[in-house]
Order: sequence, then C-alpha cells, then structure tokens
Amino acid sequence: ESNRTLAQDLVIWYDEEKRLLPWRENTDPYRVWVSEIMLQQTQVVTVIPYFLRFLDWFPTIKDLAEAPEARILKAWEGLGYYSRVRNMQIAAQQIMTEFNGEMSSDLTDILTLKGIGPYTGGAIASISFNRVEPAIDGNVMRVYSRLYCLSDDIAKPKSRKVFDAKVRATMSSERPGDFNQALMDLGATVCTPKAPKCEECPLQKYCESYQKGTMLDYPVKSKK
Ligand code: ADE
Ligand code: SF4
Repeated sequence: ESNRTLAQDLVIWYDEEKRLLPWRENTDPYRVWVSEIMLQQTQVVTVIPYFLRFLDWFPTIKDLAEAPEARILKAWEGLGYYSRVRNMQIAAQQIMTEFNGEMSSDLTDILTLKGIGPYTGGAIASISFNRVEPAIDGNVMRVYSRLYCLSDDIAKPKSRKVFDAKVRATMSSERPGDFNQALMDLGATVCTPKAPKCEECPLQKYCESYQKGTMLDYPVKSKK
C-alpha cells in the first residue's frame, strides 16, 4: 500500500511515458501558446510539421506581430479555423504594445489576449510559469468524469466549474505544467473515448468508474 497521491502517480507515469513532442523541448511561452492554439482543433501528428514551420517563419512574438497577413495565413493553410491565427497576430500585437513584447506570467493578463481563453491561458500559466492552474479541455473532462463518476454534461458551460474545482483539488502543486500535460497524454493514449486501456492506467486505483465498471457511461455529453 503506497501513500502516493493521484498527482504523484500521474507525474511518475508522465516521466516514463511522455510523448516526445517538439513543443516540449522547452517551456518558452510563445512555443506553448502556438502549440496549444494549433492543437485545439487539430491532431498532434498533423500539428508537428506546422508547428516547426511556424516557429521557423515567425521565431518570436515580435516577428508574428509584424508579419504580413498573407504570410500568416499561408503558414496556417490546411489547418483551418483561420480566426485562430488572425487572433494570435492581434494578441502578439497586444503583447508588443501593452506588455513590452513579453508574455506576462500573470494569468489575468494572459486572459486579456485575443483568442486566449481559460484552457490556453491555464496551459501557458502552468507549463511556462509553474502556476497551479488547470487546463481543462474535452479530454481532461473525460478523464475526470470517469475518475469521479461526474455526470455533469460536458457540453454545458456551467459544468466547467465542477471540473475546474475537481482538477484544482487534485493537481500537483510541485509540477502543475507536467501534471496538465500528463492529463493530456493520458486522455490521448490511455483514457480514450471508446476503449479506455484501464489495465495500463496509472490512475486505476483512484478511478471510481473503473471500480464500478461504468467507465463507458462517461462523459455525459448532450448534443448541441
Ligand atoms: N493537446 C493539447 N495540448 C497538448 C500538449 N501540450 N501536448 C500534447 N497534446 C496536447
Ligand atoms: Fe480512464 Fe480507465 Fe484510467 Fe479510469 S482507470 S482514468 S476509466 S483509463
């Protein structure tokens, strides 16, 4: 019987199993920001070459702020949802004029940037600045709904605060960025939508739905 916590077990698993991805080479907030925006509607394997080229074409926030619009649209061609990159350029211009060209480490400041909501803001604050802030997307809601048999409808905005409270109550205060990225990897590779690999899961002993055999009842999601 070990005295480890859920957060400790998850981060130990991440240290052994984490995916080697180009945006994980360092915690530069610009890299984290670009990767998280790209990953919002696009698969990891598709994002990798776009991410590398984007950083090559626009190596700094200043380069992005000053780039011709045609060039940023060209860099995004094939990813879709072009408002993502238009908003990123506006945010880069905000950072140049309002924040001296540097991403602020304050989540309240980060959330004033165009196109950065609670998920992306939490990812940047935790990964780049070690802030104890959750980064909750659909994958994290799926994992937490299963861990704690949470039946709140993940399609409803008001459910967000239920998940936010539960993640805050269980996350690592030592390594919040790695904890959040571990959840992303767990949701992508182990706690998958249709056939979760519970036998390989580092959180099995904490998982209330696994113990009841009801994993596939979660998450609850209404049609929009
Ligand atoms: N999906 C969303 N953010 C991610 C990240 N930082 N690493 C891997 N997959 C992700
Ligand atoms: Fe998901 Fe299964 Fe792990 Fe529970 S035990 S978190 S359902 S993979």
